[in-house]
Amino acid sequence: MAKNIVIYTSKRGSTRQYAEWIAEDLGCEALPLSDAKGIDLHEYDCIIYGGWIRGSGIVDFDKFARMLDDELMNRLIVYGVGFADETAENYAQVWGYSLGKIDPKNDHRVRMYILGGRYDPAAVTGLDKFLMKTMRAVLLSGSTKDAKSQANMMKDRIDKGCDLVKRENIASLVKDAKKKADRQTAI
Ligand SMILES: Cc1cc2nc3c(=O)[nH]c(=O)nc-3n(C[C@H](O)[C@H](O)[C@H](O)COP(=O)(O)O)c2cc1C
Repeated sequence: MAKNIVIYTSKRGSTRQYAEWIAEDLGCEALPLSDAKGIDLHEYDCIIYGGWIRGSGIVDFDKFARMLDDELMNRLIVYGVGFADETAENYAQVWGYSLGKIDPKNDHRVRMYILGGRYDPAAVTGLDKFLMKTMRAVLLSGSTKDAKSQANMMKDRIDKGCDLVKRENIASLVKDAKKKADRQTAI
């Protein structure tokens, strides 16, 4: 039987919610990264890392990546949770700040998913609030027509908040994880 694990970093719960749903569907454990230190990932057939997206980066992916080697990369699936739509531009940017840093030529063909997140402007404080203000200003400076309409939608989500978290968003990831685990157990 395949042995899988979900490891996540979540600040306000949506990434954890997805991790728990994925773990439930795969019949495995979901652990925050902070509790995953002593774990030997070689025991697992499919390893899933999920982190909330902050300034287009998947939070703590770099920390998690220190636990990986070439062999484990073949068992990996990554997801990021954010409020931006999964446009090609957004996908490329998030990929570049995460997987692109450890596998720039995509030799391991690790799948990355972007799942719809949750944002409540009233809950954001300190440095996060400052970063959001900067992001909002940068967004509004977009010049092309496409960039403008995407930017306006994002501005709306930043100002009014949004909740894009849905269980159905994990369907393709779970299917993929099952396939990966089956392939690994057949080796
Ligand atoms: C400071 C800050 C920066 C963010 N930057 C992005 C971003 O660049 N792209 C994106 O899609 N979402 C961004 N978000 C949205 C969150 O990542 C999203 O709402 C996510 O659901 C939060 O996950 P959590 O509930 O697990 O903490 C940002 C949120 C904050 C607070």
